[in-house]
Amino acid sequence: MAVGSGNDKGRHGRGARGHPYTDRIDAKIMNSDKQHPGTQIVAIDGPAGAGKSSVSRRVAGALGFAFLDTGAMYRAATWRALHLGIPLDDPEALAASTRAMALEFQEEPDGVRVVVDDLDVSREIRSPEVTRHIHLLDQIPAVRQRLVELQRSFGCRRPTVAEGRDIGTVVFPQARCKVYLDASLECRAERRAAEMETQGLPVNRAEVLREIAERDALNMNRAVSPLRRAEDAIYVDTTELTPDQVVARLVQLARERL
Ligand code: DC
Repeated sequence: MAVGSGNDKGRHGRGARGHPYTDRIDAKIMNSDKQHPGTQIVAIDGPAGAGKSSVSRRVAGALGFAFLDTGAMYRAATWRALHLGIPLDDPEALAASTRAMALEFQEEPDGVRVVVDDLDVSREIRSPEVTRHIHLLDQIPAVRQRLVELQRSFGCRRPTVAEGRDIGTVVFPQARCKVYLDASLECRAERRAAEMETQGLPVNRAEVLREIAERDALNMNRAVSPLRRAEDAIYVDTTELTPDQVVARLVQLARERL
């Protein structure tokens, strides 16, 4: 039986970390695809605002690897559900929408374009509305299972730097190079506020800090595939490091381990 279908209705989000039921779901997601590429994968996890995206993209460029932004996939699934008016309290409908989604990453000179059902939604998936609703999908086992399948098939095709929340723990547990990127809450909030300022957006620093703390709690405490450091992941605290220093450290780690 596919995870999240039939009898699973209404059970999502129940249970604490380490609960036998949710451990079974994580194990099922992990085993849903027998191919677990690991030799040519750099797995980067960490909380919001740790600088994963920009750093991972640069590390991929330096190594000549593909870059996989798995957060963009959860964003795309959420955008599609909102766009089509799928009931957000119906896990089966949300999972069906995710399975039906045609998702493409198109590499362009100015960055990667995210295309859902032939629509370029690169900007829309970053909207506050999408960000606010992702947690309704990212805790549904069948949604995660589908996206994990796509992530593994991407990683099977080319050497890849993949970043997200469960890359080293669930998506590519065999990856030989795993990194957990972290920074203090204040530092992550300050970086996010600065980024918003450069985009010309209004910034309320206390609000940004509150939102990041809230997302940390949602990501770390959700029942299925919570954000946590894999036992064999190298912990890198970027609070006192410049982006150049973080990139150099990760490229060095990848070259040592792959
Ligand atoms: O990295 P990001 O902020 O774009 O990710 C958006 C959300 O997607 C994040 O709050 C949690 C979820 N996510 C996830 O559950 N698993 C991943 N591998 C990546 C992202």
